[in-house]
Amino acid sequence: TKKAILGPLVGAVDQGTSSTRFLVFNSKTAELLSHHQVEIKQEFPKEGWVEQDPKEILQSVYECIEKTCEKLGQLNIDISNIKAIGVSNQRETTVVWDKLTGEPLYNAVAAPVSPGPSVPVAVVRSGSSVPAAGTSSVWLDLRTQSTVENLSKRIPGNNNFVKSKTGLPLSTYFSAVKLRWLLDNVRKVQKAVEENRALFGTIDSWLIWSLTGGVNGGVHCTDVTNASRTMLFNIHSLEWDKELCEFFEIPMEILPNVRSSSEIYGLMKAGALEGVPISGCLGDQSAALVGQMCFQDGQAKNTYGTGCFLLCNTGHKCVFSEHGLLTTVAYKLGRDKPVYYALEGSVAIAGAVIRWLRDNLGIIKSSEEIEKLAKEVGTSYGCYFVPAFSGLYAPYWEPSARGIICGLTQFTNKCHIAFAALEAVCFQTREILDAMNRDCGIPLSHLQVDGGMTSNKILMQLQADILYIPVVKPSMPETTALGAAMAAGAAEGVGVWSLEPEDLSAVTMERFEPQINAEESEIRYSTWKKAVMKSMGWVT
Ligand code: G3P
Repeated sequence: TKKAILGPLVGAVDQGTSSTRFLVFNSKTAELLSHHQVEIKQEFPKEGWVEQDPKEILQSVYECIEKTCEKLGQLNIDISNIKAIGVSNQRETTVVWDKLTGEPLYNAVAAPVSPGPSVPVAVVRSGSSVPAAGTSSVWLDLRTQSTVENLSKRIPGNNNFVKSKTGLPLSTYFSAVKLRWLLDNVRKVQKAVEENRALFGTIDSWLIWSLTGGVNGGVHCTDVTNASRTMLFNIHSLEWDKELCEFFEIPMEILPNVRSSSEIYGLMKAGALEGVPISGCLGDQSAALVGQMCFQDGQAKNTYGTGCFLLCNTGHKCVFSEHGLLTTVAYKLGRDKPVYYALEGSVAIAGAVIRWLRDNLGIIKSSEEIEKLAKEVGTSYGCYFVPAFSGLYAPYWEPSARGIICGLTQFTNKCHIAFAALEAVCFQTREILDAMNRDCGIPLSHLQVDGGMTSNKILMQLQADILYIPVVKPSMPETTALGAAMAAGAAEGVGVWSLEPEDLSAVTMERFEPQINAEESEIRYSTWKKAVMKSMGWVT
C-alpha cells in the first residue's frame, strides 16, 4: 500500500564541489523524505589547478536521482508525486562542450553523453599543461593568475569598469577568465568555436542541457544568479554585457540564455523522473538564502560547504562594498518577479580543509572524526592554521597567500591541528561578518547558518564564541537543496510551493550562545589576524 502523502513532492539536485545530492521534500512542510549523495572527485594535475569531470558530475546526478527514487519506493512513496525538480550548483566552475556530440571540449573522450543512468564516466587524467579529457575548470583553480594580470593591465577607462557592471573584482575565481584561458590554450575549444559547435556553461547549464535531452534538444540556459558569477553579466540590466564580452574576447553566441531562478526550463528527458519539469535554478549560495527564507533586506545566512559563503539580502538595491565583499544577484523568483541583490563574503576554504586533513595528511579517516579529535583537547594550544590553499578571498582578495600552520611547539599534536582547522573556519567567517557589518552599518544580531559542517557541534559553539553573537541553525541542514526545491515548486505552471513560513513547519531551529568572554574572543581573533598576515606574499 502507498503511504499517504501530505502534499505534492519536489526534488532538488544539489551539485556541490565535493559531492552531488538529490533530495526530495514534501512541499507542504519542507520535510526531507529521502536523499542520496555521491562524492565527486577533484583532480589537482598541477599546483594550483583544480579540475573535475563534467561527465562524472552528470553521472552522479543520474545516480543520485535513481537511488533516491528507489529509496522512496522502499518507503512506499509513489514517485509520481514529484511535481518539479530544482537545480542548485557550485558556481563559477566552467564547462565548454560540443553541442553536436555532447562531449566536454578538451581532449577527446570516446563515449558520447547520452541521457540516462548509464552515462559512461570518463576518467582520463594528465599532468601535462593541457587539461585532461572531460574536465571542467573548478572555481578554486588558480591557473588563470597570469590571464588576470594581463587583463588588469588593459582594463578600459578606470579600474571600476568590471566591478561597476558585475559587482566582482577581477580574480581567478570567476568564469570569464577560465573561459578566456580555455580559448587561449585548448585547440579543441578554439576549433569548436570557429565551427559554431561550442557551448559554454556553468554547472547548472551543463546539467540542465544534458538532463533536458542534450544533443536531442537540450535547453541551453542559466539563471540570473549563476550568470552573475561569470563576470560577463551586467547585474543592472540583467543581460550579457557586450562591452565585457569584448573586453574578455568571449564570443557571445556560446553563452546560454539567461532566465529567472523559478520558471519551467524544460522536462527531464530520461530516467525515473522522465517528464518532470525542471523549474528552479540557483547558484548554491543563492539557493541557501532562499532556503533560509532570507527574503527581507538585511537578512543573512552563512553556508559551510567546500568554502564558506555569507550572503546578506540587500533588497532591490545593488550595494557596492568598501570592504572586500562582492555584489551579486540573490534571486529572481519568476519571469515577472523583481530581482533581489546580495552582498557576499566568500571564503575559499572551509570544509575543504577537513578534506585536506583526511586526504593529504591522513590524520582523520572520515570528515566526522575531526569533531572527536578537536573535542579531546578543546583548544588549539596556540596553534593557528590559515588554509589559504587558493590564495585568500574576501575580504583580502590576495592571490599571493598560501596556507600556513604556525604557533607549533613540541607539545602540539594532531588534535590541536584539528582544532585549529575548525577555528580557521570560524575566524574566516568573523572576518567577513565584520566586513558585512561595516558595509551595512547595522551589525547582525545573530547568524543563520547551514551546510554539512553545521552538524559539528564544536564548530557551531566555536563560531558563536568567535563572533560573539548567537548562531542559529535549522534542524535540517540541507538548506541549499531546500531553496532550489522551493524555487522549483513555486514556478508558474507548477505552483505547489507558496514560499510562506508555514510551508516550512518541519524545520526547527537550534541556537548556540557565546560561552567565552568577549576579551578572550578578541585576543584569539587578533592572533589569527597576525597569522593571516604571515600567509601573504608566498607566491610572487
Ligand atoms: O562559489 C563557489 C560555491 O558556489 C561553491 O559552493 O557548496 O561547493 O562550497 P560549495
